[in-house]
Amino acid sequence: MSKIETPAAHADAAALGDPGFGVYVHWPFCLAKCPYCDFNSHVRSEPIDEDRFVAAFRTELAQRAEQTPGRKARSIFFGGGTPSLMRPQTVQAVIDAVARHWTLEPDIEITLEANPTSVEASRFRGYRAAGVNRVSIGVQSLVEPDLKALGRRHSVAEAIEAVKTAATIFPRYSFDLIYARPGQTEAAWRDELREGLAMAGEHLSLYQLTIEPDTIYERLWRAGKLETPDEDLGRALFDVTQELTLAHGLPAYEVSNHARPGAESRHNLVYWRHGEYVGVGPGAHGRVGVGDARRAQATERHPEMWLAQVESEGHGLIEDAPLSREEQSDEFLLMGLRLREGIDVARYEAMSGRKLQRRQIDDLAAEGFIAEDADGRLRVTAVGAPLLDTIVADLAA
Ligand SMILES: C[S@@+](CC[C@H](N)C(=O)[O-])C[C@H]1O[C@@H](n2cnc3c(N)ncnc32)[C@H](O)[C@@H]1O
Ligand code: SF4
Repeated sequence: MSKIETPAAHADAAALGDPGFGVYVHWPFCLAKCPYCDFNSHVRSEPIDEDRFVAAFRTELAQRAEQTPGRKARSIFFGGGTPSLMRPQTVQAVIDAVARHWTLEPDIEITLEANPTSVEASRFRGYRAAGVNRVSIGVQSLVEPDLKALGRRHSVAEAIEAVKTAATIFPRYSFDLIYARPGQTEAAWRDELREGLAMAGEHLSLYQLTIEPDTIYERLWRAGKLETPDEDLGRALFDVTQELTLAHGLPAYEVSNHARPGAESRHNLVYWRHGEYVGVGPGAHGRVGVGDARRAQATERHPEMWLAQVESEGHGLIEDAPLSREEQSDEFLLMGLRLREGIDVARYEAMSGRKLQRRQIDDLAAEGFIAEDADGRLRVTAVGAPLLDTIVADLAA
């Protein structure tokens, strides 16, 4: 196992002290619903009134800015759904609104999630001109029949072309692959991942397929019509992923995310390092410090109901409540231990008001699941990574 161990990703060490502030913007529409996906995405037969959305995004951003004066934005993330269906001028209007309300860090990261159809790739230049400097492309698979089985509406060739186009237009790009797919063998994933790495830039997201509630995949799986890899094969596929990405210079810095040290997604680091973020758009989440409290925020998920609420109430929030000390520290543990750099134990103990149990740490360390650094950081090892939830529950108990 030692060969897949990596040192803590300290390349971004300067940022460790300041987890940062980010802005998330949700675009809730897709051309079709993929059978495995439970993201807040909706299909509409009528054209979307983007001007109405721009006005609502502006309204929500203004409301969140009132709660978070003086912050410096480290990142903006357009997620979905399929944000690459937005007009570039819609993206531009949102970025301009963010810049009006907050100071932008000089090297702000502005990411847009894109689907790799040729139509969407043709909009890339417009997004770049609007200020987007990073795209994250949902390639999902480099095997044609598997792409079809995932219900994707693009071909492998189109996906490769979209990645190439992105590489020429954006300073930074990443793409997603889903592995542990029905019928996938270790040898097949090895070949596919090698192909993926050959076209990768500095960042790659590699997700194990999860069967999400209320999806078509869940129905098929329950009916015995979809067989996913068992635990042993899942583990073997995970190990192959760590081995090949590390050898390629893109080690895991989080459970499913790989980057050249220093090229991590700054936006996601804000989440995982317990930073502050506001979320606007249907079904967006936020965590902001208001007064002494860290507040959990969530908006109405249904797009048209969100629009109506923003227009009548000035925001789309359906939840905006302070988190208890315990809730905050549990989140800190759950998110922070996803990262290879781990958590600062002193920060956890100050936040929770309790000490981590020495015996629990020693037991988990003896199993090789966690490791302690001399500088007071605790992290989950590659061996422990698949057991993350259990480890967190043990430590939080
Ligand atoms: C919001 S989605 C993607 C954005 C874009 N609409 C797309 O499909 O390319 C973010 C990523 O989550 C991953 N994902 C979604 N559902 C998943 C599942 N059930 N299991 C594993 N990964 C999943 C996919 O890799 C996807 O690209
Ligand atoms: S995977 Fe992407 S394109 Fe497919 S339904 Fe989910 S958000 Fe939409």
